[in-house]
Amino acid sequence: MSHADDHEGTRRDFLYYATAGAGAVTAGAAIWPLVNQMNPSADVQALASIRVDVGGVEPGTQITVKWLGKPVFIRRRTEKEIEAGRAVEVDSLPDPIARNGNVAGEVPATDENRTLDEAGEWLVQMGVCTHLGCVPIGDGAGDFGGWFCPCHGSHYDTAGRIRKGPAPENLPVPLAEFVDETTIKLG
Ligand code: FES
Repeated sequence: MSHADDHEGTRRDFLYYATAGAGAVTAGAAIWPLVNQMNPSADVQALASIRVDVGGVEPGTQITVKWLGKPVFIRRRTEKEIEAGRAVEVDSLPDPIARNGNVAGEVPATDENRTLDEAGEWLVQMGVCTHLGCVPIGDGAGDFGGWFCPCHGSHYDTAGRIRKGPAPENLPVPLAEFVDETTIKLG
């Protein structure tokens, strides 16, 4: 065997392996979307946590964002709303439990136990009526200046607690936290 033949043989081997390698990459790319579709937990994981810029939310207004397919109300409350929420006796509430996902166990539904910050300016809650799942109307609606569900007449107060009507529970507070001064992370 000459030296030249030797060299050619090596080159052929190289080309063969390079082609096989390209084939493997193509197959991998074709399989990936299928695997992705069959694995819903990957999708859920991608959406499990979102960040919301609340820098433009003025006191007395709210924004609604979609998270995990459901509306979330983020309200910046006025002093009056905070005062009204804090003046309520928990014992008088139809649902005396805070329903706050950020607090372990069942704690009383005080205004303080439902808000995101200590001053009580920020209230984050699921925008889903606890009766049959309609989206309540906000911005001081209903008899208690909070939210009103027109489907069957449920009234929520300024802390999102059910006060009147068929809804059995307060609007749930999801996992949420401020990650910087103007950003709230959900989940
Ligand atoms: S769904 Fe809201 S009152 Fe029935």
